[in-house]
Amino acid sequence: MSKSIGVFDSGVGGLTVAGELIRQLPNENIIYFGDTARVPYGIRSQETIIRYSVDDALFLLKHDVKLICVACNTASSVALPVIRNHFKVPVVGVIIPGAKEAVYASRNKRIGVIGTRGTIKSRSYEKELKRLDPKVKVFAQACPLFVPFAEEGCLSGSEISSIAAKYLKPLKNAKVDTLILGCTHYPLLKPVIKKIMGNNVTLIDSARQVALEVKNILTSEGLLNGKHKAVYKFFVSDNPEWFSSLAHRFLGRQVMGVKVNV
Ligand code: DGL
Repeated sequence: MSKSIGVFDSGVGGLTVAGELIRQLPNENIIYFGDTARVPYGIRSQETIIRYSVDDALFLLKHDVKLICVACNTASSVALPVIRNHFKVPVVGVIIPGAKEAVYASRNKRIGVIGTRGTIKSRSYEKELKRLDPKVKVFAQACPLFVPFAEEGCLSGSEISSIAAKYLKPLKNAKVDTLILGCTHYPLLKPVIKKIMGNNVTLIDSARQVALEVKNILTSEGLLNGKHKAVYKFFVSDNPEWFSSLAHRFLGRQVMGVKVNV
């Protein structure tokens, strides 16, 4: 079998990125690893996030993947340089593609970023946005309750709406015209976020850009598969039943035969 693209995340959220890879690269095999025994990463120290992310990459490399996609925003924010330095395969994170799209989309150069505490604390998006365009003003907000709400399927209703209104108020007040959804789970909350931010604010979900970047790298390295039926394999470090039960919401399709690997 031809080599796979390896994708890892702290848990189930990275399936939003895997879904986009499947859509844009239908001939590519994918091996997905969700570290469900140690999720969430968003509340951990930088050292721990790096250690977990290196373990995740090593697991994928045991399966001889041709490229690693770090689907987790927290892991991408904190551990990407370490993973890149340690391993020879191309490594694609989610921060640069999301930042690029945001700079391209923003007219007033006022860009909001929402993510886990770990992502916001790292200031990864802010650094990248300012590198791309030193004139942009960045307004960042951690939204720690969004992950459990998305996992519980509470995507609308009064509770999530009032939590979202509170988190997003400073960004609305700052008059951002572009908002980066800097966490794997937030695309599920797009309708509620859109309602609060209004139609004039562009929501950036980096998955599409990430898949494009993966495609570009595989093309330039001559690693793209020819036409064939792609194979998808899903591994977790704990609780495959929980992963499978949530997978449909995040991936848009059923996931069968999830294996545990520790
Ligand atoms: N996957 C994480 C992210 O995108 C969210 C969940 C977690 O905190 O582990 O930042």
